[in-house]
Amino acid sequence: MLSEKLEKALNAQINAEFWSAYLYLSMSAYCAAEGYAGFANWYNVQFKEEQDHALILTNYVLSRGGKVSLAAIDSVKTSWGSLLETMEDTLKHERKVTAMLNELYAVAAEEKDFATANALQWFIDEQVEEEETAQSWIDKLKMVGKDGTGLYMIDNEVATRTYTQAAPLAGKLLK
Ligand SMILES: [Fe+2]
Ligand SMILES: [Fe+2]
Repeated sequence: MLSEKLEKALNAQINAEFWSAYLYLSMSAYCAAEGYAGFANWYNVQFKEEQDHALILTNYVLSRGGKVSLAAIDSVKTSWGSLLETMEDTLKHERKVTAMLNELYAVAAEEKDFATANALQWFIDEQVEEEETAQSWIDKLKMVGKDGTGLYMIDNEVATRTYTQAAPLAGKLLK
């Protein structure tokens, strides 16, 4: 059984993952409207991945006999000044999520709920990649600056990203 404190914290994380999905859908729409079809695709994949994260945690709370309480999802920003600004916001957001997950892991460890700590390990590992990827696009966007040809090439590069369902959802009821 989950402790009340952990159940609450896991539900808060589910909400945060949905908020992330919302943020990335908004960024995807912004990129699409600005004519960056590649980045619109890239953020759409992010959008789907964040929904996966919310579902993984939902399944986990259910499998521990906990209660899933879905709270309201806060509104998100709807426009940015440039692709670089969008990606900088992405990195900032992912760093915040990393801190949240570390905090959640600490609560699980403190309560000696090692099953939850183990389940969170996947998320913590995922964050390393999330931050690294956002940073690499920031580096490339800074390299080309306002150069149209450069932006066109990067947009084509991110257009190739495809979505694959997160491994922890395999065989689960909610996916
Ligand atoms: Fe996430
Ligand atoms: Fe993320």
